[in-house]
Amino acid sequence: MSAKLSVAQPLSLSKVKENLRTRVVGHPLVYFRELTSTNQMAKLFAENGLREGTVVIAERQTEGRGRLDREWVSPPEGLWFSTVLRPRVHARHLPKLTLLASVAVAKTVRRLYGLMAEIKWPNDVLVNGKKVCGILTEAETKGESTEFAVVGIGVNANFDLSALPKSLESSSTTLKHELKREIRREVLLSSLLEEMESVYELFSRERFDQILDEWRNLAGMLGASVEIKVDEEDVQGQAVDIDQDGALILRLEDGVTRTVAFGDLTVLKPAISKQGSTRSYCIEFLSPNPNPTERI
Ligand code: BTN
Repeated sequence: MSAKLSVAQPLSLSKVKENLRTRVVGHPLVYFRELTSTNQMAKLFAENGLREGTVVIAERQTEGRGRLDREWVSPPEGLWFSTVLRPRVHARHLPKLTLLASVAVAKTVRRLYGLMAEIKWPNDVLVNGKKVCGILTEAETKGESTEFAVVGIGVNANFDLSALPKSLESSSTTLKHELKREIRREVLLSSLLEEMESVYELFSRERFDQILDEWRNLAGMLGASVEIKVDEEDVQGQAVDIDQDGALILRLEDGVTRTVAFGDLTVLKPAISKQGSTRSYCIEFLSPNPNPTERI
């Protein structure tokens, strides 16, 4: 008698294409069974002139990268992809791309699965307080102008938590773990690309204020007491808002306001109104329109 083996289903590119209703993002889609890093490959493509909207996907990454050059563990059945963008903006606007991508991911996860996805500044999306997605934006600039940017998105989709190193298990989650079922990665990818296109369009039309409004609704840490590691310094305060450039505004203990453009954030104490509200709920039961939106 042979043991039952569960074999990872590779992503079906044709199903993604069938579902995809974008003009720019996802054209073309370039799929690899294995890559060192989709960001690395997307940068190479961009350097060689591939068009805005090119998306590089890999089933697994052997050298996936996170912020601050950390390793990003990328086993099969996650969703690892990078999008080439060519925004005609001053380089100082580039951090906004991470922000808009986090809005796209959190909105999509809420809409498709009814999970209470929340953004953790600057580049994480959490479900039930645990990281389900990380975003890494890299760019090439010439002086003050932008040559291209690559927005890399990693979603912990269908793998078992045990595929992650022990050190990450308690702070990470997967969509499969939260939903107690596997998701259709093709649907997730096409929906994410559509959402990316719509927020990127707003950004290109200089309507970043609208993205910020969405961000404020999706951010889990506004109102919370937080600590941010900025270089060698630890800054503590209450996260009160985000500014026009995507920097976080903190109210320090002495009442002084301080704006932080980048850093590693830890929530020390959740916002009162948010305490206990991070449970997942099912859209089928709570939405006035119970039609599931995940389809293929
Ligand atoms: C972070 O949270 O530190 C960011 C993680 C970003 C991971 C994604 S997976 C797709 C793309 N390729 C990479 O090597 N990194 C990004």
